[in-house]
Amino acid sequence: MTRELGALRAAYLSALRDYLEHESEAGFAQAYELGRQAMIDGMGLLDMSAVHRTALDTLVLPSPPADQPRLLEASSAFFNELLAPFELSIEGYRAALAASEERFQLAVSGAMAGLWDWNPQTDEIYFSPHFKRIMGYEDSELPNEREAHFGAIDARDVEHVTRSLTSHLEHRGVYDVEYRIRTKVGETRWVQSRGQALWNDAGVPYRMVGWILDITDRKRNDEALRTSREEMRRLSAHVQHVREEEKARIARELHDDLGQQLTALKMAASMMEYGPSAGKPRPPQEALRGIYEMIDELVRSVRHIAADLHPVMLDDLGLIPAVENLVDEFSARYRIQVVRRIEADTIAFKRECRIDVFRMVQEALTNVARHSGASEVRLEIAREDPHCIVRVVDNGRGAVHDGSKGRHSFGLLGMRERAALLGGEIQIITQPGAGFALTAILPLASIEASNVR
Ligand SMILES: Nc1ncnc2c1ncn2[C@@H]1O[C@H](COP(=O)(O)OP(=O)(O)OP(=O)(O)O)[C@@H](O)[C@H]1O
Ligand SMILES: [Mg+2]
Repeated sequence: MTRELGALRAAYLSALRDYLEHESEAGFAQAYELGRQAMIDGMGLLDMSAVHRTALDTLVLPSPPADQPRLLEASSAFFNELLAPFELSIEGYRAALAASEERFQLAVSGAMAGLWDWNPQTDEIYFSPHFKRIMGYEDSELPNEREAHFGAIDARDVEHVTRSLTSHLEHRGVYDVEYRIRTKVGETRWVQSRGQALWNDAGVPYRMVGWILDITDRKRNDEALRTSREEMRRLSAHVQHVREEEKARIARELHDDLGQQLTALKMAASMMEYGPSAGKPRPPQEALRGIYEMIDELVRSVRHIAADLHPVMLDDLGLIPAVENLVDEFSARYRIQVVRRIEADTIAFKRECRIDVFRMVQEALTNVARHSGASEVRLEIAREDPHCIVRVVDNGRGAVHDGSKGRHSFGLLGMRERAALLGGEIQIITQPGAGFALTAILPLASIEASNVR
């Protein structure tokens, strides 16, 4: 006999004796309380009836036969009162069970889940036929043993499944895991498994019920989508790179080659004017001046086109002077004041990243000129460890949304692509009438040359 049962027996005996002597309401209250306590202590109905029988043997049997019917009736009433908490809890349990069963059935039939029901104490387990089918087995082929499923979990996933299960049983964390299993024919399939344990009053889990779902198709689609996104991103990076290279090459050729040829042309014209031309008539001064002007104009346009294609300054002097120059030209051209906070001296931009940052600022400023109607722009380039922050904020008319959904707008999309390729992101804050604030957050780790600093 356990200690609790012995103590209950003694308490019951004394309470019943008291009741049989006085038959007071207080005695009933005591019976109810004893029953409630016994239930909390985990005693069952059989224990209760054994306790009651012992009490009858002790209190009723030895009494005079004439008193016995009255004593028996009073004892029964007392015992019924003791059983009331059990009765109530069984009713509540039934109601809860009916509700959860219904929900469970719904979830199961809708989701085509395979059920499992496990007793963590005895390690007994039940797998539903559909559970076994998910693993590729007929009902009779897979034994109802934990290892039959656990043993089929892919080695890469065993640890996180075990960790989740332990955490659920010990700390009541959510048990909802995805893992790979090996089916009967050796194929790998993905399943999602969810479960809920039940704990007794001592906090010991005595049952765990759950389901698994075959999520292989979803996982494959996710995987395909991720791969294709990565490929698109790589392709876009490549196209971007090739475009910039090509632009830089054309810019160099325009600048150097065409520039030199124009200079040569100017010299040739000059020789016509001043060179030895004995006996030959000099060309009219007016025509020559016209030619000089045309050549100068051509040189200017070639320089302009070359700079637009690829800022030579970027390679020669670095990012910041090139950005400063861009901003100066922007201010002069659109008469929009630009307040600068450029604190990027300590950032050693990688050569190949300079063009990305430059293009971001360029596109943001172009947007300001095209869409904002702003009178002032704030430009920040700063080190905010572990990031480099590039911010362009205008005081213009703003926009309804952040421009990420426009079908024919590629400026912001290109900016996001560039930022993503550097492991960073673009954030936009805007509202109609409240300006447009664009921030590129770029990890220093990917934009700084590693051998510097
Ligand atoms: N500074 C700004 N102020 C107000 N609206 C802006 C600003 N910058 C962008 N927008 C809005 O966001 C939209 C998307 O900009 P995005 O640069 O992607 O495309 P776009 O400038 O219209 O075309 P493009 O492909 O030539 O760049 C713009 O059409 C505009 O409505
Ligand atoms: Mg644009």
